[in-house]
Amino acid sequence: MNVRTALHLVPLAGLMLALQTPARSQDANYDESKVPKYTLPDPLVLAGGDRVTDAETWRTKRRPEILALFEAEVYGRSPGRPKAMTFKVSSVDNEALGGKATRKEVSVYFSGEEDGPKMDILIYQPAKAKGPVPAFLGLSFYGNHSINSDPAITLSTQWMRSNSKMGIVDNRATEASRGTGSSRWAVDMILNRGYALATIYYGDIDPDFDDGFQNGVHPLFYREGQTKPAPDEWGSISAWAWGLSRALDYFQTDDDIDHQRVAVLGHSRLGKTSLWAGAQDERFALVISNNSGCGGAALSRRRFGEKVKRINTSFPHWFCDNFNKYNDNEDALPVDQHMLIALSAPRPIYVASAEEDRWADPRGEFLAAKNAEPVYRLLGAGGLPAEKMPGINQPAADIIGYHIRSGRHDVTDYDWAQYLDFADKHFRK
Ligand code: GCU
Repeated sequence: MNVRTALHLVPLAGLMLALQTPARSQDANYDESKVPKYTLPDPLVLAGGDRVTDAETWRTKRRPEILALFEAEVYGRSPGRPKAMTFKVSSVDNEALGGKATRKEVSVYFSGEEDGPKMDILIYQPAKAKGPVPAFLGLSFYGNHSINSDPAITLSTQWMRSNSKMGIVDNRATEASRGTGSSRWAVDMILNRGYALATIYYGDIDPDFDDGFQNGVHPLFYREGQTKPAPDEWGSISAWAWGLSRALDYFQTDDDIDHQRVAVLGHSRLGKTSLWAGAQDERFALVISNNSGCGGAALSRRRFGEKVKRINTSFPHWFCDNFNKYNDNEDALPVDQHMLIALSAPRPIYVASAEEDRWADPRGEFLAAKNAEPVYRLLGAGGLPAEKMPGINQPAADIIGYHIRSGRHDVTDYDWAQYLDFADKHFRK
């Protein structure tokens, strides 16, 4: 590795270390020949045993069944839109990024109270757009100000995991953290292609540590006397996904954004989140999972790389308590992650892996996408045009898209180039 590349990797390496503690388990299987034999639950067989042979039965019976299983057993049930929620546009600059973009910042007050829980949406939209534009929406790991070095983005004041390389000191962002995540957000490419980009710091919705759900949005919804979510109620991933839906609520009020063409995307834990958001909220017109792995696009039954027990142990707050029933017990799951992907049918969905990201089980991610295909076919939507797992850097995309890129667990311009092509294909027909 030359010095330039090495320097370029420093902030990212810091980010990876910070986000990936606790350390990866020693007992993870990386040997394909040791993947146990497994049978996937059939997305097209009703709980009562009858086969689903028409779109109507999928829509009215099987889809609700699968959704309810993911709610009760995996991520936990979420509340809906709070009645009192309000939006406030706090800044607009039509000359952002050297005149290329309009930058908008919007606060979403979940309880309608400005001193209650809130999230801040950063939006860049192409400056010269005539009429509403389609948008990409994603959560970020280190705040809106980290996605671009634009000095006018409001610096987050929320709790963040300390990371001196990312400019996070004593759990707060400093000026040094501006733009530290910019390699993951291809702002120029997105704007040049005529799309808006909207980001939200995921910790606005629920700070990513296990505090028994005392901070973040959960307490806002506790019933009298309730102090934590019930075993089938929302963990942090559900809360983050819920926040994405609240952003969509806002877009429905913003004439600059075409709320019927919003793609939701996320990386890693936030890719798990974008899949779950797209599954629950059919207003998302397109769904993208970047290196989401266990509890995201990867099939749990393969037990390759990160496993259910490992993830529930390292991150006890991500899923609902019921998900612990499947620790070392994956075959008992009434669902697997191909069914999560199928919940987005017939909407376009893209799953991306990275060659070196074995922890996330690239093959398991491909197989989940492939095994969602029968649902898409039943709905007459098309499929994933690859019989076998595609080679490195050889994307395959129809209504379901998939690629495995060379390199590590990350979001790169290569990934964005595929997402933009995929969005063009489906949004600009
Ligand atoms: C850890 C975790 C993964 C997760 C990743 C991330 O590696 O084990 O499940 O996807 O962090 O979100 O960065």
